[in-house]
Amino acid sequence: MDRFLTADDLAKTLRRDVREGLGGTPKTLPPKWFYDERGSALFEEITALEEYYPTRREREILTARAPEVAAATGARTLVELGAGSGEKTRLLLNALRGTLRSYVPVDVSGDFLEEAAAGIAADHPGLAVRTVVADYEQHLHLLPSGERRLIAFLGGTIGNLPPAGRAGFLGGLRATMADGDFLLLGADLVKDEQRLVRAYDDAAGVTAEFNRNVLRVINRDLGADFDVEAFEHVARWNPEEEWIEMRLRSVRDQTVRVAGLDLDVAFAAGEEMRTEVSAKFRRERLESELGSAGLAITRFWTDEAGDFSLTLARP
Ligand code: AVJ
Repeated sequence: MDRFLTADDLAKTLRRDVREGLGGTPKTLPPKWFYDERGSALFEEITALEEYYPTRREREILTARAPEVAAATGARTLVELGAGSGEKTRLLLNALRGTLRSYVPVDVSGDFLEEAAAGIAADHPGLAVRTVVADYEQHLHLLPSGERRLIAFLGGTIGNLPPAGRAGFLGGLRATMADGDFLLLGADLVKDEQRLVRAYDDAAGVTAEFNRNVLRVINRDLGADFDVEAFEHVARWNPEEEWIEMRLRSVRDQTVRVAGLDLDVAFAAGEEMRTEVSAKFRRERLESELGSAGLAITRFWTDEAGDFSLTLARP
């Protein structure tokens, strides 16, 4: 395993993010802190919800198009940013069997990576599996280079970055890419507002628990005393930005102590703190954002219903 990000780096980043996020107006917290063990399990539950269509739709596209991805790229290395659900990875690995020599799963947490990698190595004898612990906004230039890489960034996670963040990420990625490399990008599409909101505010309340989990993470890792039940889940469509916003709304006036930062934070009744944006795209926007980063679309697919997109792009 290559570690470009240590547990210590992560701890420092959490401290900085929480200090800045709770100190700002309005308050915000970055979505990357949802995913401890409990948060990851809740996200897995979300992907199976009737209302949450992205995972199913992306799987539908991959099932139909993985052979075309293989034919178009002839990839020798698959770099996967964000430990994907095993299933999507398997679809790609199977389709790429003919040319693929190595698989490089990249994630900010090493815990989950090793296990997933071991399973894949066992199923694909002869495939070199090299796990990398890294932050995709900081360490792209450290990823293994080599000829004909396919860099997969699936699930719609690109939407968690605001436009400036996307420009930085895509530009940085482009800078590491050589001729013959491809990007495979999964992105959710703009659609009916009601469906979007339902996907992020499910009837069973799983997404609400997922959202509040960030407070549990801060309680545990920074010795805070958030009363998790005193924050309500809010999911709202922002039509100007074309993104879903998740927020946590304080149900009463309250002060939270974050002992690890020696910080007291006051929340007013009804005050909302943003915990995630999940941008939805139109093809033209993907084309222009990729184009600005120096990447050209070579294939663009959607599922039958036109809910989700998969784009293949190259320098
Ligand atoms: C895994 C980041 C793509 O934005 O749809 C699911 C996370 N948040 N429900 C998304 C998420 C609320 C998800 N991504």
